[in-house]
Amino acid sequence: MQNWEALKQTCHSCTRCGLCETRHNVVFGIGNEEADILFVGEGPGEQEDLQGEPFVGPAGKLLDDMLSIIDLDRKCNCYIANIVKCRPPRNRDPLETEQDACIGYLRNQVALIRPKIIVCLGRIAAKRLIDPDYRITRQHGQWVERNGIWITAIYHPSALLRDVSKRPETFEDLLSLREKMQEIGAKV
Ligand code: URA
Repeated sequence: MQNWEALKQTCHSCTRCGLCETRHNVVFGIGNEEADILFVGEGPGEQEDLQGEPFVGPAGKLLDDMLSIIDLDRKCNCYIANIVKCRPPRNRDPLETEQDACIGYLRNQVALIRPKIIVCLGRIAAKRLIDPDYRITRQHGQWVERNGIWITAIYHPSALLRDVSKRPETFEDLLSLREKMQEIGAKV
């Protein structure tokens, strides 16, 4: 396990998979490194790749609005990262091999942050962190506890931009997240 400084350096010069050839920036993560809540998306899109920060495009704006409903703010009281740190070309799903190459960085981030709660944003993160057979439409909002960390998944903000009919369920999931935070005394 590396400390923050070493981990950031290693990650920013990473060539473990082919995504390094097309990236403009490594998107390491952002937020409070001592937060109790960690959000995990799938991988950077175009804007994120250009700016080097997760969730700064249209989906990011919606994510910020979702966080504010439950008094969370990316700069203050949560941390946001992705399964893969470099943009998959044309925003395709990250390949299994790319996820395998990158997942160690996220594991190291989890070990440093020691969050009480992890929220997977969408199917790709849920499959990787909860269960390879995870079905987001059926299982979003359910909680599992692994090694003392509570984990759930909600719809990816991009899915909510495409299909507004999913928003009420996500609102319920956000309320459930707030309840879980209160129940386990997560700091906000
Ligand atoms: N989608 C993601 O999953 N992550 C980002 O950082 C941006 C969009």
